[in-house]
Amino acid sequence: MKTILITGGAGFIGSHLVRLMVNKYPGYRVVNLDKLTYAGNLANLKDVEDKPNYRFVKGDICDFEQMRQVFADYGVDAVIHLAAESHVDRSIKDPFAFARTNVMGTLALLQAARLAWDGRFEGKLFYHVSTDEVYGALENDGSFFVETTRYNPHSPYSASKASSDHFVRAYHDTYGLPVKISNCSNNYGPYQFPEKLIPLFINNIRHNKSLPVYGTGENVRDWLYVEDHVRAIDLIFHQGKVGDTYNIGGFNEWRNIDLVRLLVGVTDRLLGRAEGASSCLITFVRDRAGHDLRYAIDSSKLHRELGWSPSLQFEEGIEKTVRWYLDHQDWLDNVTSGDYLKYYEEMYHK
Ligand code: NAD
Ligand code: TYD
Repeated sequence: MKTILITGGAGFIGSHLVRLMVNKYPGYRVVNLDKLTYAGNLANLKDVEDKPNYRFVKGDICDFEQMRQVFADYGVDAVIHLAAESHVDRSIKDPFAFARTNVMGTLALLQAARLAWDGRFEGKLFYHVSTDEVYGALENDGSFFVETTRYNPHSPYSASKASSDHFVRAYHDTYGLPVKISNCSNNYGPYQFPEKLIPLFINNIRHNKSLPVYGTGENVRDWLYVEDHVRAIDLIFHQGKVGDTYNIGGFNEWRNIDLVRLLVGVTDRLLGRAEGASSCLITFVRDRAGHDLRYAIDSSKLHRELGWSPSLQFEEGIEKTVRWYLDHQDWLDNVTSGDYLKYYEEMYHK
């Protein structure tokens, strides 16, 4: 039985990936290792927790000895590494946490894999799930990030992810560790922590709270439904070339303000309010420091080489997503208490 270690499996993207791997590959043992930070939530995985090929380990990727032990205990064949601090605004407040987990944690995991596999790399793989934010920001000129675009990160978050990508490549080039990397655009969908734009705003519309749009709302993001992302990870994991990088994105660029208006319209309609009634909640607030203007990813390599394309139209994905959050108010209430609430108050209601 092949054993796959998925780190960060209790988070947003990780939980969708764990679900896919556990259900699609009963012959794999899927070990989900997660520290359960504010962003990790085992409620995201209720439907797979009793499957015989699923295991959960509470652990910290920064704890090198613990990582060595996990490799020894489970005989890990492959790693899909998602555990990270993932929110740009938090990285501006506390960059050290991002260097610790994203850089040092990735390094600890790489070293544990290298020592456990000890040069016997046949059938082994270390796959790092990364972001398009490592490439920096684009102008509004129709250009795209491609796999060879020079790294030029601006936020502490993207700098930490860029650094971890470099360490993954260094382990390939120096020690021959079999690695793959994918760099994906902004994800949306169920189980995303409501500090990120889409779930935060759906929740705020529901509760008639203000919708804080940073700056003028003209920044552009390229959005992909989370299940399309994890399908791409599955393909790259099984069929991608060792040592290669793949960009993942849906050619789906939206200015923040247009996206917010779409969210307002769909959420109002599903709540039975007059469509657009909640536009009055839109509030332009101080811009994020170093706010990247535009992200847009060219995923044609993934399409050409592995036949991947996104399955959902954006409007369809947004409707599905809004419905999910409105139907899962208990999930939202649960995660918007405690630590999160304190942070939210500090950020937006000073
Ligand atoms: P998330 O914040 O929802 O989840 C992160 C998970 O990692 C949580 O379960 C958390 O408990 C866990 N974690 C954090 N620190 C840990 C540590 N030290 N040890 C073990 N576990 C730890 O993040 P997400 O949005 O699901 O992103 C997952 C990965 O995908 C990240 O590496 C992120 O950089 C990357 N990514 C995200 C997006 C996006 O739009 N969300 C896009 C591209 C790439
Ligand atoms: P976010 O979901 O934090 O993702 P990222 O920063 O990784 O792109 O933000 C998406 C966009 O929305 C980004 O341009 C920042 C903006 N934004 C707001 O305008 N208001 C908000 O309250 C948040 C959280 C984000």
